[in-house]
Amino acid sequence: MRRRIPLPLIVTLLIACTAHAFQPTPVRVADAQCQKCHKEIFERYLATPMARASGAAEENLVPGTFLHATSGVEYSISNTRGLPYLSFRSGKHPDIAGEYRLSYFLGSGHLGTTYLYGLNHYLFESPVAWYASVHGYDMKPGLAEMPQMPPSLPMQSGCLRCHMSSVARSDPGTINRYSGSPFLHGGITCEACHGDSQRHVSSGGKAPIVNPAHLEPGRRDSVCISCHLEGDVSVERSGRAALDYRPGDSISDYLAFYVYSGNNLTARGVSEVEQLAESTCKRTSGDKMSCTSCHDPHFTPAPDQRAAFFRAKCLNCHSQQQFAQSHHPENPDCTSCHMRHTGAENIPHVAWTDHRILRSPAPLDTSTEHPQSAELSPVFSPGANQRDLAMAYYKAFLEGNSSVGPKAWNLLQAQRSTIGNDADALDAFGLMSAQHGDNRDAEEAFQQALKLDPHDLTALSNLGALEAKQGKLKSSVATLQSAFEANKDVIGLAMNLARVQCMDGDAEGARSTLDAALIYAPGVEELRRMRNQMSDCKNPGINAGATRGATP
Ligand code: HEC
Ligand code: HEC
Ligand code: HEC
Ligand code: HEC
Ligand code: HEC
Ligand code: HEC
Ligand code: HEC
Repeated sequence: MRRRIPLPLIVTLLIACTAHAFQPTPVRVADAQCQKCHKEIFERYLATPMARASGAAEENLVPGTFLHATSGVEYSISNTRGLPYLSFRSGKHPDIAGEYRLSYFLGSGHLGTTYLYGLNHYLFESPVAWYASVHGYDMKPGLAEMPQMPPSLPMQSGCLRCHMSSVARSDPGTINRYSGSPFLHGGITCEACHGDSQRHVSSGGKAPIVNPAHLEPGRRDSVCISCHLEGDVSVERSGRAALDYRPGDSISDYLAFYVYSGNNLTARGVSEVEQLAESTCKRTSGDKMSCTSCHDPHFTPAPDQRAAFFRAKCLNCHSQQQFAQSHHPENPDCTSCHMRHTGAENIPHVAWTDHRILRSPAPLDTSTEHPQSAELSPVFSPGANQRDLAMAYYKAFLEGNSSVGPKAWNLLQAQRSTIGNDADALDAFGLMSAQHGDNRDAEEAFQQALKLDPHDLTALSNLGALEAKQGKLKSSVATLQSAFEANKDVIGLAMNLARVQCMDGDAEGARSTLDAALIYAPGVEELRRMRNQMSDCKNPGINAGATRGATP
């Protein structure tokens, strides 16, 4: 006899699997050894937003609820039985309801805080986040218009790397599954800027440790750039991973950054670096000036100290008497005129202090609508090459700028003969070939990528779709299944696998594929509808190229 269960079983089951989330160590514990000999730096640093950038969810839980009117889903962040939870309930579909045990917070809260949860080792971000500007919860950017509860948001290591420390790679061939701990330490540890400290500590401070101030300017600036620059698009260089960057390296060996020419600097993500480079101060001072000309990375001045703190930094260089005495004595805050706030405080990743250090305060451009340019140019990326440019256009295309598709395709074709050992570029070439109907070229590129990495998600999931199109149903199912085993939260992949299973007459298999995916997307109606239609397996239809895998 069937009883009506208030929560869908899938969600209830999961909670048991996530009850013992791994606890990251905060900076105060991870770097406790430094305290012995660098007590003052250590203690001042602990109070900074960087030291408190992330951690265990319970350390920074802001309870609250948010009703998303467009989808009719109500979200609630709460401390339940002493543990942090995100619960959700749809007003339209009573069976869409459940709760996730929250594991981590991300964001010190001076702008906002978001929460992460794990389900069966897949790591996700909450669809709602807390925003300081409204002192409450709202949907994450991009989700506000969705008419239904969004599928779970995968947390990639590329997102974690700037907010946590000792970040791990996700499991091979997965976007966001971490069999071990996704990261070891909450917050930005001393090692994030000073590199490996083991020998320095064990030798009682005798062995050297990286001091950014003593590095040549490119490597010095790389320390801040590694986390404080995004550009409009950034791509990992061939054979390199951003996660491998260490203080002392040049970030441009790992990442190439691109911006749309003509785009407004003050409207772009994490752009203090770009803005400062445009300032007269920096252009005239050259390498003598860096982020640390004004910022002490170990100290954030309190609101009542900030004017005096930054004024002293300006006067270090503008040492002529007039600036200390007769230049606007009525207002000691140099930055209130020369480094104005742009009014973008509520948007994480947008610089809200204008680092262009303008002579006269310019009218502020706070509009978020900018005509989309089609021209990408490299910034802070000496050595960026044609392959990187091709990948930048490709990534911009994947991110929704369809106007650059033809450019990406031309550049990738021109690179084809030189990317034989470059899995990311092979995936890009394969995917665009499939979209252009060049299935043979696509297949060849994916096969080549799989020789380099047998787990390559993009190659497996698209190769499987191509096989299905050719009527090779059994091998298609096998290929897609091998990708799905490690990526049960990728909806496009689940739907394609279910379709092929169905075409192959395996309705049972198709249903269980969709059931597995529904765990991570309980509110996605298309998936539910498909699940309910799977009994007769009529006309499932394949989408080649619909599933793209781990694009960082
Ligand atoms: C046992 C004492 C001791 C401990 C523990 C220690 N340090 Fe040091 N550290 C020193 C001494 C002494 C110096 C000065 C060395 C010098 O000037 O040559 C130093 C210098 C430094 C410098 C500047 C290096 C330079 O070349 O300018 C940095 C950066 C640093 N330490 C970071 C750390 C960090 C991070 C930790 C914790 C992971 C740490 N230290 C732990 C004693 C220590
Ligand atoms: C390139 C490094 C980088 C990446 C990648 C990155 N962030 Fe950030 N994030 C930053 C920096 C730096 C800040 C703070 C400075 C700023 O806002 O300009 C920030 C600020 C934030 C804040 C506001 C925190 C606060 O209160 O100040 C949130 C929330 C956030 N990021 C979430 C995310 C999420 C979620 C992702 C992944 C999807 C992500 N970030 C990816 C660098 C990064
Ligand atoms: C966000 C990056 C960053 C973090 C995190 C960081 N430092 Fe530093 N540290 C720097 C930079 C940059 C310098 C060089 C400052 C300068 O002189 O321009 C520096 C310099 C130092 C020095 C040399 C002496 C001095 O006063 O300049 C010591 C010692 C030091 N840091 C210790 C630590 C310890 C201990 C921690 C962790 C509690 C830590 N740092 C965390 C960036 C960082
Ligand atoms: C490992 C990544 C990482 C590195 C390296 C890094 N930052 Fe940050 N920084 C962040 C993140 C993340 C935040 C936002 C923290 C939050 O509020 O949650 C931040 C915030 C800040 C802030 C705003 C908060 C404050 O203290 O006023 C400043 C300024 C800053 N960083 C300066 C620097 C400088 C200067 C360097 C280089 C010496 C540097 N950062 C290196 C990740 C990094
Ligand atoms: C590392 C040295 C340095 C620092 C720090 C510095 N400046 Fe400058 N700044 C310069 C130089 C050099 C120039 C160009 C020559 C000049 O005007 O003295 C300049 C120019 C300027 C100009 C004229 C801009 C123009 O386009 O004509 C302004 C305004 C200015 N600085 C304000 C500031 C303020 C405000 C601060 C502190 C928040 C500051 N600067 C910090 C070095 C610096
Ligand atoms: C000429 C001085 C100066 C220089 C150089 C400078 N900053 Fe700033 N920065 C400021 C001031 C002033 C603020 C506002 C601080 C406040 O309001 O408390 C700020 C704020 C920030 C913030 C907080 C977010 C925001 O936009 O307000 C970040 C992050 C930051 N700076 C990063 C950097 C980085 C990275 C560099 C090097 C590329 C850099 N800054 C160089 C003066 C400077
Ligand atoms: C009340 C607003 C205000 C404050 C506060 C202010 N300035 Fe200015 N500053 C201006 C204006 C306006 C100009 C442009 C004057 C002109 O074009 O004749 C200017 C010009 C400058 C210049 C360029 C001078 C030149 O001859 O080219 C520098 C450098 C400068 N300021 C630095 C500073 C520093 C350093 C501080 C803090 C000690 C400061 N300002 C505080 C408004 C301000």
